[in-house]
Amino acid sequence: MKNTVVTFQSMKEENKKISMITAYDYSTAKLFDEAGIHSILVGDSLGMTMLGYDSTIPVTVEDMIHHGAAVVRGAKDALVVVDMPFMSYQTSVYDAVVNAGRIMKETGATAVKLEGGNELCPQIEAIVKASIPVVAHIGLTPQSEKAFGGFKVQGKSEEAAKKLLEDAKAVEKAGAFALVLECVPAKLATLISQTLKIPTIGIGAGNGCDGQVLVYQDLLAMYGDFVPKFVKQYAQVGAVMKDAVQTYIKEVGDGTFPNENQTFAIKDEIIEKLY
Ligand code: KIV
Repeated sequence: MKNTVVTFQSMKEENKKISMITAYDYSTAKLFDEAGIHSILVGDSLGMTMLGYDSTIPVTVEDMIHHGAAVVRGAKDALVVVDMPFMSYQTSVYDAVVNAGRIMKETGATAVKLEGGNELCPQIEAIVKASIPVVAHIGLTPQSEKAFGGFKVQGKSEEAAKKLLEDAKAVEKAGAFALVLECVPAKLATLISQTLKIPTIGIGAGNGCDGQVLVYQDLLAMYGDFVPKFVKQYAQVGAVMKDAVQTYIKEVGDGTFPNENQTFAIKDEIIEKLY
């Protein structure tokens, strides 16, 4: 069944949890879609996981379009959300609408995601008015990592918790159809989820959210540079890949790959004529 902004809202109303995972290419998106995931996020985390940067800051609109379009080609039923990268929407409402429009036209995705609360509401309102569905993202917003002074849990003091609750209400009012809560204390995330009509998708925000999202390389143990506390590794795919490639290297080295099963035949008399 095709997942849409309408099914997201129905899932919230029917108390059904939404599963979201990142993907950045066609074949991975196809696998996750076939597994039955509700939503695929083409996160700007691709700056680290796919492009080897040490943050999301260098990621461009072109990067997001390149990867977003590949994911859309692989996702039949999952609702695809593409991140708006750093400085593609913060600069002005105009830039936000133009870049969201480019991402939608050139990827075929269903929605865009942007980081920020109350201060980003003019952008969210304008993008939604242009008929582009928006997922908002508050809490630990990685594009503001330098301003936060690192990757830290957000909303722990009374003042910060109040601000996050107000931000959540503001982005809902501005028209966002879902909200990502990243690195927020579980009880605060639960309160926000119970307060809002739109679904919340948590990452490091406990199980009181209406759904969960993880970066797939974290979930499959394929990215060892940094493993956050909130990650659960469901399989050691990185180790399986490394092991398989080591066997391949060995078999190439000792000549046991390829064997006749992987080889094309030709009649001997044809070959003999060539000598
Ligand atoms: O870029 C990303 O992958 C994200 C998730 C961590 C929510 O924004």
